[in-house]
Amino acid sequence: MSRATAPRTVLVTGAAKRLGREIALALAQAGWQVAVHYRDSKADAIKTVADCAALSGACAHFDADLGDEVAVRGLLPRVIERFGQVHAVVNSAALFEHDSAASFSFEIMAKHLRCNTGAAIVLAQALHQHRVATTGEAPASGVVVNLLDQKLWNQNPDFFSYTLSKAALEAANTMLALALAPQLRVVGVAPGLTLTSHLLSDEKFQQLHALSPLGRSSTADDVAATVWHAISTDRPTLRHPAGRDAQAIAAIERITRGNFRLLERLFPQIGRVLKINQLDTITDDVIEAAASTLITS
Ligand SMILES: NC(=O)c1ccc[n+]([C@@H]2O[C@H](COP(=O)([O-])OP(=O)(O)OC[C@H]3O[C@@H](n4cnc5c(N)ncnc54)[C@H](OP(=O)(O)O)[C@@H]3O)[C@@H](O)[C@H]2O)c1
Repeated sequence: MSRATAPRTVLVTGAAKRLGREIALALAQAGWQVAVHYRDSKADAIKTVADCAALSGACAHFDADLGDEVAVRGLLPRVIERFGQVHAVVNSAALFEHDSAASFSFEIMAKHLRCNTGAAIVLAQALHQHRVATTGEAPASGVVVNLLDQKLWNQNPDFFSYTLSKAALEAANTMLALALAPQLRVVGVAPGLTLTSHLLSDEKFQQLHALSPLGRSSTADDVAATVWHAISTDRPTLRHPAGRDAQAIAAIERITRGNFRLLERLFPQIGRVLKINQLDTITDDVIEAAASTLITS
């Protein structure tokens, strides 16, 4: 991983342990100053800060209960006060409590939605306000990465409220990408089953890993490297079946601003516009037409 050119600061939530810690370390390795958020795991957070600081210099830890809106709204200003500027937020912290269609209640749903969805949206909103106040209309001056879950595309009814909260976050991810552009890029990263938890035996975890098409699932390193890529790249790598056209690619970049989810939805629409109009070249007009159907449909 190449190092970021000037010191930039990223807030990683839930960074004391597990995936959040690996993401924090990968970003520190790339030169980012890391604000390590935690709730209960203070000792682990201090260790993550020390390990990140050894890689990139200034790093610090910040506590906040993400289920408490006042605490969430106070978090980014505390990080800004410490570092001067913040350029990115990785929403990795998550509440992951078991419920099912039978045990579902408003209370457990609200707990998951507050922490896993509401907090991520408020932090994106706060980063957007901060970047606008700092650099005005400058495009892509900040980035938000939301940790989703591949379970959304491979649904089962387990962890009912957790899954609902991630489904809402996935929808919010697309809406935020549209609403907070051009100043922010908003990207979703959806890990498969990567780390086990106390709710899953090691044996069952290994069995589930082995069921993946490659015989293994993603590792914490894979997830951290993906988040690093999402944060570091200013634009996605674009490929389309009809070949490359610089003007068309520029139009796609302008419309999607690096939002991979939007790209996924845009490409099928481009195919439909080509087919309906019996065209075989992706032009600026084709992309604009595809984008307008996407946004109004
Ligand atoms: N692990 C996987 O295999 C996997 C698979 C798919 C998706 N994901 C997603 O990837 C992200 C990271 O996964 P993970 O397994 O590392 O997460 P995790 O261990 O379940 O949770 C990470 C941290 O979230 C924090 N947290 C929970 N509730 C909180 C609250 N109310 N306020 C503030 N912090 C709170 C906790 O911090 P403290 O310990 O400091 O309290 C916890 O250490 C999550 O968003 C998860 O949904 C993970």
